[in-house]
Amino acid sequence: MLVVRTVADLRESLRAARRAEATIGLVPTMGALHHGHEALMEQARRECDVVVISIFVNPTQFNDPTDLERYPRTEEADLAAAERNGVDIAFVPDVAEMYPSGSSIEVRLDGPLVDTLEGAHRGSDHFHGVTTVVAKLFNIAQPTHAYFGQKDAQQVLVVQALVRELNLPVEIRVVDTVREPDGLAMSSRNIHVKGDDRRRALALKAALDATQSAYDGGSRDGAALVEAGVAAMKTYDVEPEYLAVVDPVTLEPLTEVDAGALVVIAAPVGPVRLIDNAVIR
Ligand code: PAJ
Repeated sequence: MLVVRTVADLRESLRAARRAEATIGLVPTMGALHHGHEALMEQARRECDVVVISIFVNPTQFNDPTDLERYPRTEEADLAAAERNGVDIAFVPDVAEMYPSGSSIEVRLDGPLVDTLEGAHRGSDHFHGVTTVVAKLFNIAQPTHAYFGQKDAQQVLVVQALVRELNLPVEIRVVDTVREPDGLAMSSRNIHVKGDDRRRALALKAALDATQSAYDGGSRDGAALVEAGVAAMKTYDVEPEYLAVVDPVTLEPLTEVDAGALVVIAAPVGPVRLIDNAVIR
């Protein structure tokens, strides 16, 4: 596996593949890699001739400076994980390489997709940071395919809108959420969930299961499903920041729920803020 730290070196190392019209799969990450990230790399490896992972803790998408500061940085282990998963090239730029003149350019999507849920609670600047860095990574690597996790369902919709609106020639592939054996969605932030908070973190998955059970029991009322989810979280002594049953494309809250609806949750657990989601079946 090749490790490159500059845009010029990445371009150079992809030149032959591009000339051969090979498929190039990009897996954008912020490192602290876990099995969720590995699922993205595995799928990219199966589908593409050349697999590139980017590892970059993107400062422009952090609304909370403490969150940015304590974001885990584990480069050595990350490179080993990438290599193990058959990645060809790891692109590991520093902040100056990605933002040579500070943050003087922004690629921003506006509207309900970035204003609601995560956007409402973290600030829509969060998604402006995501679309900016993803647009830059797409320009830098010019992948034919790019891999994103359903774990960040709203991010997937935002990136798909970015691709559509800017007519970017890349196919977005979405990979299912990878969970711990007890159901906790894997996340780089889980490392900060310790002691009894680890048990309390199961509140999110419990709420997703409770909304599905309520639906299975015949309930089609959005408010009733939300109530079932909130009640399940209460038994773990966790209060959601938001818990909503929404349209899977527009993210608008649903009063009448059908299969395919998306249940989305964010909740503080100990020192971190966790998110999770599931599609009603
Ligand atoms: P990061 O949180 O490192 O996640 C990188 C990718 O891994 C994202 O597409 C995310 O949805 C996916 N992922 C994380 N946990 C997962 C899980 N448990 N199962 C499946 N996939 C999972 O998301 C980002 O970084 C950044 O916003 C980024 C897109 C890299 C832009 O900076």
